[in-house]
Amino acid sequence: MMIEEDFLVIGSGIAGLTFALKASQFGSVAIVSKDDLSESATLYAQGGIASVMTDDDSFELHANDTIEAGRGLCREDVVRIICREGPSHIRELIDLGVKFTRIQGENYHLSREGGHSRDRILHANDLTGQEIERAMIEAINSKNNITVFPHHMLIDFMTISRLDSKVEPGSPKDEALGAYILDVKTNQVKTFLSKITLLASGGAGKVYLYTSNPDTATGDGIAAAYRAGSKIANMEFIQFHPTCLYHPQAKSFLISETVRGEGGILRLKNGHTFMENYHPLGCLAPRDIVARAIDHEMKKSGDDCVYLDITHLEGYRIRERFPNIYQTCLKFGFDMVKNPIPVVPAAHYTCGGVLVDLNGQTNIRHLFASGEVCYSGLHGANRLASNSLLEGLVLSNRAVSKAALLLKSKSFNKTIFHNVPSWDYGNSVDSDESVVVSHNWDEIRRIMWNYVGIVRSDKRLRRAERRIQLLLDEIKEYYWDFKITKNTLELRNIALTAHLIVMSALKRKESRGLHFTLDYPKTDISWIKDTVLQDTTRRLVSQTSLRATSHE
Ligand code: SIN
Repeated sequence: MMIEEDFLVIGSGIAGLTFALKASQFGSVAIVSKDDLSESATLYAQGGIASVMTDDDSFELHANDTIEAGRGLCREDVVRIICREGPSHIRELIDLGVKFTRIQGENYHLSREGGHSRDRILHANDLTGQEIERAMIEAINSKNNITVFPHHMLIDFMTISRLDSKVEPGSPKDEALGAYILDVKTNQVKTFLSKITLLASGGAGKVYLYTSNPDTATGDGIAAAYRAGSKIANMEFIQFHPTCLYHPQAKSFLISETVRGEGGILRLKNGHTFMENYHPLGCLAPRDIVARAIDHEMKKSGDDCVYLDITHLEGYRIRERFPNIYQTCLKFGFDMVKNPIPVVPAAHYTCGGVLVDLNGQTNIRHLFASGEVCYSGLHGANRLASNSLLEGLVLSNRAVSKAALLLKSKSFNKTIFHNVPSWDYGNSVDSDESVVVSHNWDEIRRIMWNYVGIVRSDKRLRRAERRIQLLLDEIKEYYWDFKITKNTLELRNIALTAHLIVMSALKRKESRGLHFTLDYPKTDISWIKDTVLQDTTRRLVSQTSLRATSHE
């Protein structure tokens, strides 16, 4: 089955929906989402969206806080553009119907999070992402040239280099033509042809055993882009959120940093505070420092968690400001009005990703990327809290402007599109060994948690490298022998993404921001550079020539 649209958007968080809405002014749009349309990391964003909104704040201050958190790796031009262009796009969100919390119906209430020198986080209580998705999906539904494909998953991109052996993958002549997409409900593969493709499929938190991310965050976009020859930057910088609820059934439920912004205090089991020993900003220090401090204190004491204490606030205030967090904690037996709640760090944000310029353009022509899947240079070695929704919003707007110019200025050669073959299932059969998938999935996530976590060492990274390589080989066999399903695709993607994280971490011989290694504990100025991985091997995409010796 072939579907042809001007724009293909992969992902339905703030980055994908912003792009789709704006792109629909210039042509037809298909949005592909792995789950329900609203299911994305955006949906779970609690804290909010950082932006300069008051006279006592400035773009310079916001940029400086971002650059300070990024520990020398931010691209300063990108930071300044994103900080400066944020407020006007936020006003567009408000015009679209997003209801951010106001103080007594008037000025917007602005929160503070770690590393910010001003109160500048717009939010809809602690359900900011839900509110943004609600308003954006309503707007999407009112457009008749946008078609949505929920429960459809990216397999691989179709590029010119995959059709024409004279074009090297990822070279300046390479160009995206669309993608093969799995209909998750029927297991059919559809071919989507598009003049412009935007990748906005989110991050890879599920690579780790404990994560605040939704189940969809399996690094699909990063892995597919890498297989197509895209440059992937700074994958060693995985942000661990310091405070996720510690409870076996809570699936690392996020306790927003805005709880600390409202005065929440981190304590040990004995009630003692400790953050003042690590940073002058105490509990509101940047995330890398807070997560490492908690990890250190837990290892020192042998305790399973630390505690977050917000009991100084009146009960009604807690229930009003944090309705979602309050109710969820209560469900697990913790009343945050009365007692400190148990918290632990968990993988939260993939700071690295598909390398893009300040218009979201990747090194493959007509393939753009925005949001958590990309590395634009905004976050550097450590993302400042609540800068991610902002990045998705601004970068997608810039990407649409660039893509619209491309559409206008270029005549697209229809013949190339018509040469794109349909998916070839080859001789693959249904798998009767699903246990391989669940076992390997679990093994990867444990390896990453134990050896590639908050504190790393060469020995641990090498151990992870060897084990993940074995798993990659095994998964490759499995992938080509059996009919693909969502589970096999996700497994293949988390394995490759884990490999990229390990390889990037091994490359960086220093500690900086979110990458801390015992072997190189100091920051080294000769490492003020990105770790970039690119693989230009020509690959098979569908299962043609099954069992040929050169699967990869
Ligand atoms: C939070 O609410 O703590 C998460 C905000 C973010 O990750 O930017």
